[in-house]
Amino acid sequence: MTNSAEWIGRVGRAWADEWRRTDRAFASLTRTLVASLDATAPQEGRALDIGCGAGETAIALADLRPRLAITGADISEDLLAAARGRSERPNLDFVAGDAVAAAAAVAPIDLYLSRHGVMFFPDPLAAFTAFHASAAPGAHLVFTCFRDWSLNSFARDFAPLFGEAPPPADQPGPFAFADEARVSDMLAKAGWTGIQAEPVDFAFRAGEGPDPVADAVAFLSRIGPAARALLEMAEADRPKLLEAVAGICQARLAGGTVDFPAAAWLWTATALPKGTP
Ligand SMILES: C[S@@+](CC[C@H](N)C(=O)[O-])C[C@H]1O[C@@H](n2cnc3c(N)ncnc32)[C@H](O)[C@@H]1O
Repeated sequence: MTNSAEWIGRVGRAWADEWRRTDRAFASLTRTLVASLDATAPQEGRALDIGCGAGETAIALADLRPRLAITGADISEDLLAAARGRSERPNLDFVAGDAVAAAAAVAPIDLYLSRHGVMFFPDPLAAFTAFHASAAPGAHLVFTCFRDWSLNSFARDFAPLFGEAPPPADQPGPFAFADEARVSDMLAKAGWTGIQAEPVDFAFRAGEGPDPVADAVAFLSRIGPAARALLEMAEADRPKLLEAVAGICQARLAGGTVDFPAAAWLWTATALPKGTP
């Protein structure tokens, strides 16, 4: 599963190259997340985007709340370069490094946000305890993450190619926050209250345009399970795999787009004012 070293290196570079198609893939989920941020975010104060990647959610929030100071934190320099290259907002900056350290550096924080940037901490309880310690009284936490692997067809459809076993839930990776009870318990232990998880179903758009299947194959050759397999296999075996990936994308082609049904959680929580029993 994807770990910090991979985000700093190969995986971060691929996501930086593919940020336009990645934002497109998550677009319908992003609308739900941004609506929740609009309902929650203070007008002023400080917000931190955890694992901001190429910056789409931080940029959206900067536009919604021009007087809120927003920091996007990420461990991938490549993704931060992409983020800086696409935004020039006076209330937005991007910092390189672990989000926990970034939070401590700009505390107190009134709002934490993240689109799928929270599932890669080696010790999530320690990370969310530290986020709580750097939170202002009454601070909000709003983030999305994937629900179960079996509900996410961009992963599950490829199981016949890469194996049926869902990834282990106790290791950093895209499905590390899939178990609702586990995450709720972890957030409560970390000190967060008012913890709520809302299921959000969305269409993960892998391909569109004049040749949606070719577009999807190009995208999924860089991001996700096929990308890893392609990298690890012998050159001679690649055409066969790409053909199989194209077949799976073809089966999802409808109305001029290749969409994979996907399932996320939208988590919200609050930091109690200090001293509240
Ligand atoms: C699935 S990507 C999501 C990126 C972005 N939020 C988006 O929606 O496009 C996960 C991100 O978390 C970042 N990341 C992983 N571990 C991190 C950590 N400890 N501190 C900060 N960022 C981290 C990765 O570099 C990557 O950009």
